Amino acid sequence: MPTLETTVHGLKLPNPFVIASGPPGTNGKVIGRAFDEGWGAVVCKTISLDADKVVNVQPRYARLRARQTREIIGWENIELISDRSFEVWLEELEAVKNKYPEKILIASIMEEYCHDAWVEITERCQDVGVDALELNFSCPHGLPERKMGSAMGEDPAMLAEVAGWVNAVAKIPVWAKLTPNVTRIEDPARAALRNGCDGVSAINTIRSVLGVNLETLRPEPQVAGYSTPGGYSGRAVMPIALRMCLEIARVIRDEFPDRTLSGIGGVETGQDAAQFILLGADTVQVCTGVMKFGYQLVTQMCEQLLAFMEQHQFESLEDFQGHSLQYITTHQDLVARQAQARAAEKASDPAMIQADDQWSGDDFVDQSEALARG
Ligand SMILES: Cc1cc2nc3c(=O)[nH]c(=O)nc-3n(C[C@H](O)[C@H](O)[C@H](O)COP(=O)(O)O)c2cc1C
Repeated sequence: MPTLETTVHGLKLPNPFVIASGPPGTNGKVIGRAFDEGWGAVVCKTISLDADKVVNVQPRYARLRARQTREIIGWENIELISDRSFEVWLEELEAVKNKYPEKILIASIMEEYCHDAWVEITERCQDVGVDALELNFSCPHGLPERKMGSAMGEDPAMLAEVAGWVNAVAKIPVWAKLTPNVTRIEDPARAALRNGCDGVSAINTIRSVLGVNLETLRPEPQVAGYSTPGGYSGRAVMPIALRMCLEIARVIRDEFPDRTLSGIGGVETGQDAAQFILLGADTVQVCTGVMKFGYQLVTQMCEQLLAFMEQHQFESLEDFQGHSLQYITTHQDLVARQAQARAAEKASDPAMIQADDQWSGDDFVDQSEALARG
């Protein structure tokens, strides 16, 4: 029987499924619920020292649905970090750790570009006993107006400085959560890892406008008739998240082999998680999936991941972590490999060689109908 157990920076997780920072970890009560359901670890909703500066609006979610099934495939939010007081959060984090001493609790923290504030939030969170910290360098809306969140994640020099401040005082593992709203995610990843972060989490949400209401002619979600670009998550973002994770995983493999990657973006099944792990992730985080399906989703995801492992006779996550990275190459190399493969086919059976694959219009219609049928 394969095992899903894994150890990350000395922290023992029963499985690689981690609640991502967001509504599913919004207070001590729901964090306890997640542990009861069997999640491997929980990252709490991002907290800051002065919650009075955090003012949320309503509505702050908008959803993209599949045309036929109406399933939610994409989710946009303009939610900020937690607007609950830091003192209340510290009490709840401590109470959760007291009740669940064996479970892994990670505090997601964010502050302004101020050395003393980052040092204070780091020290006060670790003093109440959380197991690790995740630095939110990635929230793409609202907070960047205060030079927080993705304003730092988009600027590797600033990220490096802040990571250095935190790591100078942190006694527990630190992950940097990165924004996908950059051209080369390797740059902020390197900045975090060079400045003492034990791991990287990616991705946070992708800056988006979910759509424009054709009755009112106003973009969604509307607050008093106006909107602002938000963050996109859910199934639709998984291909982008996989690409960014593989780029970070290669940096880790080649330059920082003792560091880790927590893959995030659109995970809803054990099979989704297997793909992140195959591309180098150590753990996998889920936010929108929990909002769609509830905390019990973890049971099904564990079963699906175990079934995948049995199918391939993998005993542990290590047996396949990063396995698929070897199959990612350059276009130029694909051309050479294709030529080689065709030459070999031709040598063995000249009749097997087909003309170049050019889609006719008919093929295209067939393909799009098949896609539309799902
Ligand atoms: C409503 C909502 C609120 C979120 N709040 C936070 C947050 O406070 N801190 C953070 O680091 N990420 C936050 N996220 C981002 C998620 O943790 C995650 O990185 C992103 O949604 C992609 O994963 P998913 O497709 O599983 O949701 C939030 C996401 C959503 C949908």
